[in-house]
Amino acid sequence: MINKNIASLKQSATLLINEKVKELRKQGKKISHFGFGQSPFPIHSSIVIALKENAANNHYLPVAGLEKLRAQIVLFLKKHQNITTKKEAIFIGPGSKELLYQSILIFEGDFLIPKGSWVSYVPQIQSKGGKYQILETNFEDDFKLTAESLAAFFKKEAPKKQQILILNSPNNPTGAVYTEEEYKALAIVCRKYNVLVFSDEIYSQLHFSATSSPSISKYYQEKTIVFGGLSKVFSAGGYRLGYMMLPDEMQELQNVYKSLFSETFSCVSSPIQFAALKAYTYDASMQQYVADSAKILKTLSEFIYKELSAIDIQCTKSRGAFYMTIGFNKHKEQIAKLGITTSSELSNYVLENYQFAMLPGVDFGFDQEALFFRIAFVDFDGEKVMKAFNSVAEIDVDFIKTTTPNIFEGVEKIKKFISALGN
Ligand SMILES: Cc1ncc(COP(=O)(O)O)c(C=O)c1O
Repeated sequence: MINKNIASLKQSATLLINEKVKELRKQGKKISHFGFGQSPFPIHSSIVIALKENAANNHYLPVAGLEKLRAQIVLFLKKHQNITTKKEAIFIGPGSKELLYQSILIFEGDFLIPKGSWVSYVPQIQSKGGKYQILETNFEDDFKLTAESLAAFFKKEAPKKQQILILNSPNNPTGAVYTEEEYKALAIVCRKYNVLVFSDEIYSQLHFSATSSPSISKYYQEKTIVFGGLSKVFSAGGYRLGYMMLPDEMQELQNVYKSLFSETFSCVSSPIQFAALKAYTYDASMQQYVADSAKILKTLSEFIYKELSAIDIQCTKSRGAFYMTIGFNKHKEQIAKLGITTSSELSNYVLENYQFAMLPGVDFGFDQEALFFRIAFVDFDGEKVMKAFNSVAEIDVDFIKTTTPNIFEGVEKIKKFISALGN
């Protein structure tokens, strides 16, 4: 017998589409892969050097992480994310995904997930048999949760149990970034209803017009747990290192986390922690590397937004990360003539007939009939693009066409699909 909460889980949608695309590519199909959200850029060489230098380190490290690394992350957060904390509040884990999962296990209560959220929150909650509710959001707000709608939600039914809100900015799947004002307003509502906030800031420095993104912890320090890591900002998803920060007011939980860590993963790989120590020194060259990544991603997002908006596809305004949520709802009637009414059906149709891979919105909390999809604009050779980027004054359409051909062709395929609908 298998635990029924686990038995009902399916493989993560993002990993699944990646396998499907690999299979189609093996068959010789030319797929524009907008389905998988992995950073395309090479890892900074100084991090690789640090990893090599520490390869012989075979010791278990402290359960909460290497002291020096925790202290370094405190400095990084202060200088580059405007967050003040102390090293005892920082915990290192094998990816922020695992730290989120362990936090979901630790806290009792109802989880609140804004419509248009990362694919893994809900399955993680389901796997412990937890309760959750999807909170309404709107395309017009780029699917960001507003203070008004959160307040209206609580007014309808005053919470009887602890409420745990999971926020993510820059956002996967929309690319939206919450502003300081939006966070300030949300913090007031959260404080009124004593909500615990998990603030997923894994993309924080991948912001298109600033060196980092606002954090709600600035306005709601007492009950916000912040999550971050190496995967996106440092293009090191495979290193599997994340961190979390407990608020000052919740330090009594240190031992709870340490106990659970010690009975599950023990500690993160030692060489990787030393490599992370280098990453979080975040020297000028590393900052430049992240700024260049953000500039390239910004240009691609603007190109896609312009091209797709012109053919009546709804596009969220990406301000960070490498995603956009796009909607085909203005073409719903024509699409229905193909016998397609759900986002899962449409993503399959477009993959099979136009070799364009995107993820159906249903995996992000949208209704099946709402034709929203997540696209990730990372299907390019990041090393080549970074080199080319450093030798041009400005990135234009020609640059996109030659250095990111899959992005360019992908957009052309969507245009072809819309044109075939015969509006
Ligand atoms: C919003 C969001 N949170 C967390 C993660 C997990 O990242 P990590 O590699 O640190 O586990 C991802 C990865 O895709 C993500 O998009």
